[in-house]
Amino acid sequence: MTPFQIAPSILSADFARLGEEVDNVLAAGADIVHFDVMDNHYVPNLTIGPMVCEALRKHGVTAPIDVHLMVSPVDDLIRMFIDAGATYITFHPEASQHVDRSLQLIRDGGCKAGLVFNPATPLHHLDHVMDRLDMILLMSVNPGFGGQKFIPGTLDKLRAARQRIDASGLDIRLEIDGGVKVDNIREIAAAGADTFVAGSAIFNTDDYKATIDQMRAELTK
Ligand code: DX5
Ligand code: ZN
Repeated sequence: MTPFQIAPSILSADFARLGEEVDNVLAAGADIVHFDVMDNHYVPNLTIGPMVCEALRKHGVTAPIDVHLMVSPVDDLIRMFIDAGATYITFHPEASQHVDRSLQLIRDGGCKAGLVFNPATPLHHLDHVMDRLDMILLMSVNPGFGGQKFIPGTLDKLRAARQRIDASGLDIRLEIDGGVKVDNIREIAAAGADTFVAGSAIFNTDDYKATIDQMRAELTK
């Protein structure tokens, strides 16, 4: 696994040509496909579900699919995304009645588990469940929409999450989601992130490879 991973959010892709868009972004050097699931209940927007994940697998996508559940409740969709071929499944702790049980459900299904923190959600939700996590995802915008501006206070939260991961000695990825661009990715990495979701910054450009190359160049500066 490369130390830094780029995870384009298909929320900003052209849904009429989704298979092709995912092929193109992977050919352009993306590591992971970030898959945003919204239910118009936990967040005020509605997107895609397990059928689309399964369709991407049938289309031939073999890269990791990183399913970000912005839904409540979570357990039924966790089961469905396990069957649909998800690699990572992450959810927001306040959206589950039983966080430990939902995390176990993901790992028991053979997927990697993660918790997602909104800008105002405190990191204490990590207490008691660190050993059940493969990923911590910090939101740097309020969830629901692509194309929002990075909330600067997230940098301090990233540093705190990085400290917790390093102190635990566990193999947990630290992902950041929202407003990640070529011009801020370097300071986000310096604050401790190793996995970078970027939707509009990649899909709203004409040349995905050029954009991903620029992001990697920033990360290796
Ligand atoms: C927002 C989603 C993000 C979003 C990121 O709720 O979780 O993944 O697509 O989009 P950008 O990169 O445009 O901020
Ligand atoms: Zn997301």
